[in-house]
Amino acid sequence: MLKNALPKIVTESLPGPKAKAIIDRRANAIPSAIRCVYPVVIDRGEGAMVEDVDGNHFLDWIGGVGVLNIGYSHPEVVDAVKKQTERYFHGMFNIVTHEGYVALAEKLSTLAPVLGKEKKAFFANSGAEANENAIKIAKAYTKRPNIIVFSGAFHGRTMLTMSMTSKKAYANGMGPFPDGVYRAKFPYYYRNPVGLPQEEAVNYYIESIKSVFEEASPPEHVAAIVVEPLQGEGGFIPAPIEWVKAVRQLCDQHGILLIADEVQTGFCRAGKMFASEYWQGAGASPDILTTAKSIAAGVPISAIVARNEIMDAVPAGIIGGTYCGNPLACAAALKVIEVMERDKFAQRSTEIGKIAMERFQQFKQNYPVVGDVRGLGSMIGLEFVKDPVSKEPNAPFVNALVQEAVKRGLMIENAGTYGNVIRFLAPLTITDEQLYAGLDIMEESIKALL
Ligand SMILES: Cc1ncc(COP(=O)(O)O)c(C=O)c1O
Repeated sequence: MLKNALPKIVTESLPGPKAKAIIDRRANAIPSAIRCVYPVVIDRGEGAMVEDVDGNHFLDWIGGVGVLNIGYSHPEVVDAVKKQTERYFHGMFNIVTHEGYVALAEKLSTLAPVLGKEKKAFFANSGAEANENAIKIAKAYTKRPNIIVFSGAFHGRTMLTMSMTSKKAYANGMGPFPDGVYRAKFPYYYRNPVGLPQEEAVNYYIESIKSVFEEASPPEHVAAIVVEPLQGEGGFIPAPIEWVKAVRQLCDQHGILLIADEVQTGFCRAGKMFASEYWQGAGASPDILTTAKSIAAGVPISAIVARNEIMDAVPAGIIGGTYCGNPLACAAALKVIEVMERDKFAQRSTEIGKIAMERFQQFKQNYPVVGDVRGLGSMIGLEFVKDPVSKEPNAPFVNALVQEAVKRGLMIENAGTYGNVIRFLAPLTITDEQLYAGLDIMEESIKALL
């Protein structure tokens, strides 16, 4: 069965002939801005494995960029979606109520670790839309115009979320952008300013938020501060818990809402159903949580969860949309959550992460090109540098590593403001044998390049 297979390249070169023909058609038919550096044309996927149209088997450590925590084609999810297709595809929630939407909102309200006893949830179609909606409800509730985001943040590609996103490669030439979005420094400890003692780091980064209050927007005009519990596109950088605690205190002091963008960290990726569960223990729970990606195993849907008081502050007509909370996606999401809870995916995420982290730490010891290894659960980043002292980012090495690995049947992806981080996002259905095979391929590929 493909789901238990190991990486195997059977064609003389990559892409194989059938894949090449389709990739050539892609180049003619699709804008070049929708980039793809992989010679892979999928025929089918199971678990953590992809079979391409030429019969090559790839181990996928990208998982649709964090969408496939439950793996490709989980049979119970396939079955749930099939059953829903036989009843109806669409209803539009403003026109007919469907139970799947209600049940999913009830379930997410019990799971999402947001502040408040009574919570509500609603749905959109993508991570960016979930974030846009979170900002709308924060503005409606606080009646304030501005938000604070961070260096390294990625929140999407719509007009508002492009302006929230830090890396301008995602937005070059697209301005003018919406006003009222201000940026403070994210605590990227590996790249602290030279000479900053670690014990002063939290204070340094909190001061950066206070500078926004002084120089850009007084706190009483700030509706929300938006934090990724572990920055994804920004380079797999965990938000230190002591910093989150201090951010929460600032929010409480000034009546600002704390939004956790769990689009990439949600659904057991970081060792918990939601990564902001780690914040709960520190008394720093968010007010609003957004999530998407792995929620429905690849069927498009995203979610926004908050306490009733916040949700019900929004006037009618401001939120919603034609496809939001589509019945097929709700059916998939309900099954994903059921399977993840039953089969203890959060625990498995921690186990996988431990094995991978130990090996990555060895890479760091053995190969100076690996400057830093960090993460939570199964969300791990390896930052590559030209040398460990200057820490000069080594994006060319990472780009070459991606190609070396795929030649051997392992798909890995880069991340980071400087494009010099490799991210580990393997489906949590990966077998131990596949995990070890992937770690071996990664090490062989590093050695081949050195
Ligand atoms: C943290 C975070 N927020 C938002 C998004 C945007 O999600 P989407 O591409 O579904 O709009 C992403 C996508 O990578 C993400 O990682």
